[in-house]
Amino acid sequence: MSTYFITGATSGLGRQVALRLAQRGQHRLVLPARDAARGHQLQKELLGLGAAEVSVPRLDLTSLASVSDFLEAFHRDAPPALDGVLLNAGVQSANRLVRTVDGIESTFAVNHLAHYQLLKGLMPCLSAQAVVGWTTSGTHDPKEKAARLFGFRGAQYTTAAKVAAGDYGGASAGQACKDAYATSKLCNIVTARVFAARHPQAASFFSFDPGLMPGTGLAREASAGLQWVWKRVLPRLAILVPGASSTERSSAILTGLLTGQVRGSHNGAFFNYTGKELEPADAAKAQWLADDLIATSDEMLVAYRRQVPLK
Ligand SMILES: NC(=O)c1ccc[n+]([C@@H]2O[C@H](COP(=O)([O-])OP(=O)(O)OC[C@H]3O[C@@H](n4cnc5c(N)ncnc54)[C@H](OP(=O)(O)O)[C@@H]3O)[C@@H](O)[C@H]2O)c1
Repeated sequence: MSTYFITGATSGLGRQVALRLAQRGQHRLVLPARDAARGHQLQKELLGLGAAEVSVPRLDLTSLASVSDFLEAFHRDAPPALDGVLLNAGVQSANRLVRTVDGIESTFAVNHLAHYQLLKGLMPCLSAQAVVGWTTSGTHDPKEKAARLFGFRGAQYTTAAKVAAGDYGGASAGQACKDAYATSKLCNIVTARVFAARHPQAASFFSFDPGLMPGTGLAREASAGLQWVWKRVLPRLAILVPGASSTERSSAILTGLLTGQVRGSHNGAFFNYTGKELEPADAAKAQWLADDLIATSDEMLVAYRRQVPLK
């Protein structure tokens, strides 16, 4: 029996991956959820589909304390070795950037820092053949034409400290939300590459751009009108939108990557929703950026543990 760990499995892409794994039967699924009711509903559904075991422990990625508590309980319960870890949960602010209880810009906090903290804690639990993936986004790349159509201008990484503070140098509130999202997704690709370089024996690491998947919960903070377009109109027009996919299509590739059935040419590879291995944007390969991101992320976690204010 293999064990898979997925964040963000209560909705959208993560849910589709969980459904696929459940349908294969014989897998143990660990699916942390921030909302207990949504978690239990998912658990029931997946057991009904044939999953061998499903647990839905509580985890709120907006809180470093929640990640710590989660890890403590997880280790206490003598966890099974993890064959696949998918760091998939993600958020995007629509109108203005907000800070978490820890004082960190929430897109960076959820999409990058909490997952970084989580993976560091899970590393001792990886099985010998483990695969670890991040769901990232083509929006990180300033050259991505489809993302530009939606107002993205690529990641705007200056320093991790500025990104964590939501400092996008005078961009309008709406643009800063897009910048924060694209930048957090750059952080995912960079982190995958750093783990691959630093821990090549521990696991096979990858990052994955699922393409534009209209209809998911990602637009939950947008205005009612935009949500209607996202949920009702865009899925029907997806075939006409460049770079568009669907959770069904992207989850098939992502499940293949997570289970090791699809593999890259090197550890740390970046894939798109067609399963093609691509070069990420130049910023994702910049050593100064990787060094700054990891050093600052580690400093923030140390400051959190010492209860030094992060604001
Ligand atoms: N949709 C797209 O077009 C698109 C394109 C490129 C990349 N992506 C990436 O794909 C991934 C999945 O997104 P999606 O489109 O499937 O969106 P989604 O339907 O909104 O799913 C996001 C998942 O993350 C969970 N989550 C959000 N905040 C959390 C928190 N604080 N703590 C714990 N879990 C949290 C959500 O839980 P709840 O159910 O409780 O809300 C949900 O399960 C994300 O990383 C996103 O950035 C999406």
